[in-house]
Amino acid sequence: MRVVILISGRGSNMQAIVEAGIAGAEVVAVISNRPDAEGLAFARERGIETCVVDHTRFDGREAFDRALATHIDAFAPQLIVLAGFMRVLTDGFVAHYHGRMINVHPSLLPAFQGLHTHRRALEAGVRIHGATVHLVSPELDSGPILAQAAVPVLPGDDPASLAARVLAAEHRIYPQVVRWFAEGRIRTDSEGRVRVHGEAAAERALCVPGAIEA
Ligand code: GAR
Repeated sequence: MRVVILISGRGSNMQAIVEAGIAGAEVVAVISNRPDAEGLAFARERGIETCVVDHTRFDGREAFDRALATHIDAFAPQLIVLAGFMRVLTDGFVAHYHGRMINVHPSLLPAFQGLHTHRRALEAGVRIHGATVHLVSPELDSGPILAQAAVPVLPGDDPASLAARVLAAEHRIYPQVVRWFAEGRIRTDSEGRVRVHGEAAAERALCVPGAIEA
């Protein structure tokens, strides 16, 4: 399975996926919309092809997304992984990668879509927070849930400490979901519901697939 990862910054989720060494999954390219994305250096060190499609050089979202898709498609990926890729995507772009583009979001969706999830979770007083991996659909931070991991909100947490705890959970579940794709376990049933087949992960507390079938 050829995988293209899109980043905008640090790229720690990209790094977690690369370092997981997933059998049957090859990260063939890392693409950033920012020339200064820190994660690009790691990818280059690993000998992974990198490219930058700088959104500031395009006149609008449609033009940028078209150029981005051209770059992605040149690598002929079966899976597109958004790893801290901080761009709102056009409907056409999302439709083009229907069922094969995934995202990690730093909250237990559908709670706290959008930005500043950790600050908002603390303000809301939730006791449990976490991360979600989902298929990308046209609406922002939605789409079928593939896995979630929960973490406690502890006394004395600030947005940074909570973000660090959630990020560790992201690094656990994101490679796991990529592995499920590589193993052909993610399927859509006749009613359009996404299912994870043959995975006993539900037994592992606080890291469960979105829906399971034997
Ligand atoms: C991660 O926490 C990821 O969940 C979040 O950006 C961070 C990227 O970190 N993504 C979003 O907020 C997307 N809506 P990373 O670059 O170190 O992987």
